[in-house]
Amino acid sequence: MTTSSSPGKIILFGEHAVVYARPALAVPVTQIHADVEVRDSPRAGIWIEAPNIDLHAELSTLPADHPIASVINKFFSPLSPRERGWGEGLPPLEITITSTIPVASGLGSGAAVSVALTRALALHLNCPMTDDEVSSLAYEIEKIHHGTPSGIDNTVVTYAKPVYFVKGQPIDIFKVGHPFTIVIADTGIPAPTKESVRDVRRLWMYDRSRWETVFDKIGIISFTARRAIEAGRWEMLGELMDENHAFLQEMNVSSPELDRLVQAARDAGALGAKMSGGGRGGNMIALVNADKAEAVARSVREAGAKNTIVTQVS
Ligand code: MEV
Repeated sequence: MTTSSSPGKIILFGEHAVVYARPALAVPVTQIHADVEVRDSPRAGIWIEAPNIDLHAELSTLPADHPIASVINKFFSPLSPRERGWGEGLPPLEITITSTIPVASGLGSGAAVSVALTRALALHLNCPMTDDEVSSLAYEIEKIHHGTPSGIDNTVVTYAKPVYFVKGQPIDIFKVGHPFTIVIADTGIPAPTKESVRDVRRLWMYDRSRWETVFDKIGIISFTARRAIEAGRWEMLGELMDENHAFLQEMNVSSPELDRLVQAARDAGALGAKMSGGGRGGNMIALVNADKAEAVARSVREAGAKNTIVTQVS
C-alpha cells in the first residue's frame, strides 16, 4: 500500500489580481489535508472509494471530467508516466481518498486531492515525478474545473511552502522572519470561484485601465507584505489585509457574509482582516496576536462563521 498526503492552502494577499499576472502570497495550512491510499487490487479495474463525497465506483463508469477520474486519466494519459516506461493497459488498483479540507471554500481542496492522488499513483507504480510535473498535472485539472486559474493553488499545495506566486514565473518560496497567527473562518457558503473570476474578467474587459490600476495596487500590497513577512514585521500585515479587502469589495467579489466576519474579527481585536480566495463565500482570514486568537475565533463564530481554524504561519 502507498499513501500520500497534501495540505490545504490559504491565500494571504493578491487573489484575483494574480490571474492578471500580479504577485500573490499563499501558505499551506497543515491542519487540514487530503489523504490518498493506493493498493494493488485482486479484481480488474481501478476502484475508487471517496467516502466524503459518497463515491464508490470503478474508474470507467465515471464521466471523463469527474474531478477524481480526470486526475487518474491524466496520470495514465500517453503523455504522462507511460512515456517513461509504463506498460499498456491500466493496472488493477484500489484507491481510497479522504479529506478534511472543506470543498469549495478557497482552501485548495481540489488541488490537494489532485496532488496527493498523483503522488500516491506515481509512488505506487514506481514512476517518479518531479514536484514540477505533479504541479503541472494538478494545474491541468484546475483548468478543467475552474476556467482560467492562475496556478497558485496547485503550486502552494505541491510545494507545501509559503509561495510568492506570479503566474507563468518559476516558483518563488519565501521565508517567514517571525511566525505569526491567523484565524481562518468559513462562511459555510460555497465559493463560486469560476463565476467570480469570470465576473472580474468582465469588469476588466469593460474598463481595462481602471482595473489594471487596481491590480497594480494589489500587486504592491503583495510585494510589501512579502518584505514585511521576511523582515519579521508581521504586525504590518493587518493594515495591508484591510486595504486588500477594500479592493476585493470594489471588485464585487466579497459578500455581506464575508464582510460581516471581517468586521467581527476587527471588532474583536484582529490587526486586520480580509476575504481569501475566490470570494462570495468560502473563507476569510484575520491577523491576530496569538493570545487574541481564540477570542477572535469565538467572535467570528458568533457572527455566523460555520468553522474556524487558528493557524501559525512559520
Ligand atoms: C482562487 O483560490 C484564487 C483566485 O485568484 C483564482 C486563481 O488564482 O486561479 C480567485
